[in-house]
Amino acid sequence: MTTSTTVSDLSVPQLGVGLQFNPEIYDWFPFAQHEVDAFEVLLDAVMAPLDGRVVMAPGAAEQLEELAKRAPLVAHSNYGCDFGFDPLESTPAVRRHVPIARHIGSPWVSNHCFYADASWSDIWSSPLQFSRSEVERVGRRARALGDLYGIPLAHENAAYYVVCPGSEMREAEFLAALVERAGTYLHLDLHNVYTNSVNHPGFDAWDYLATIPLERVIAIHLAGGSLHDGVYHDWHDSAVPEPVWEMLQHVLEHTRVGAVFLEFQGRGHHDATRVLDRERDLDMILADLTRARRTWDAAYGPRSRRTTRAGAREACHGR
Ligand SMILES: [Fe+2]
Repeated sequence: MTTSTTVSDLSVPQLGVGLQFNPEIYDWFPFAQHEVDAFEVLLDAVMAPLDGRVVMAPGAAEQLEELAKRAPLVAHSNYGCDFGFDPLESTPAVRRHVPIARHIGSPWVSNHCFYADASWSDIWSSPLQFSRSEVERVGRRARALGDLYGIPLAHENAAYYVVCPGSEMREAEFLAALVERAGTYLHLDLHNVYTNSVNHPGFDAWDYLATIPLERVIAIHLAGGSLHDGVYHDWHDSAVPEPVWEMLQHVLEHTRVGAVFLEFQGRGHHDATRVLDRERDLDMILADLTRARRTWDAAYGPRSRRTTRAGAREACHGR
């Protein structure tokens, strides 16, 4: 069964410009003092181990409860093995991410498109095989997982450094076919698109945006990266580059998304990068947040941003 439901049909709440709440910045970023419309929670960072009886890591529920007083929380999954080969019911996605996303009242959930743990490769980031058979197999899993979440599920495009053997179509074509097959949505990481366009000959970022169904984009990631040994890496360790801002403006002008999240994280991606700190990186993060809000406001108007949890709840209510 296919569906043509778009994000506008879903009435996904428009939260505004948010920040990813990840272990590398949560010890020092002054969350209480700066305007952020939403927080993206990395489910892997707050889940308990699979061999225990509890779902959330010690202290995580309390930490998120405090954070939720400031802005709505949105769930994001990386290592759920969502697209892998183990039975879906045995994966961290089903056993941990689904209950946590429900617990925090996430209006939608996004999952990173790669094979990840216990499957094709453990490296970050092992791309899916862009093939018709994987559209079918992954599409069935995505549909079943979306039903378990009970909220819209959006797949995040990955930055990858080699193409998976056996691929027979472009990534953008694969994602368009996947969401059509599964009845799911897209989480568009514009820095991943940019990274792939730098590293892969023939990968055109603007052609990519023209190929994916923009009307199915629920949320956007922005980040920066670094050049290392001749390869441009999606390390989230520098300011958002200019071509990514140009793409953001284009996408916001052409579709209605629920949120734009900035990702800042250095050592979490690779030990060749650095650990971010308040001294060197706070001004960079604040400047990118300000520019993202300006770009959002130019497209949708400042009143479209939900700066309180109550406002977001109100918007979610109509879904
Ligand atoms: Fe991302």
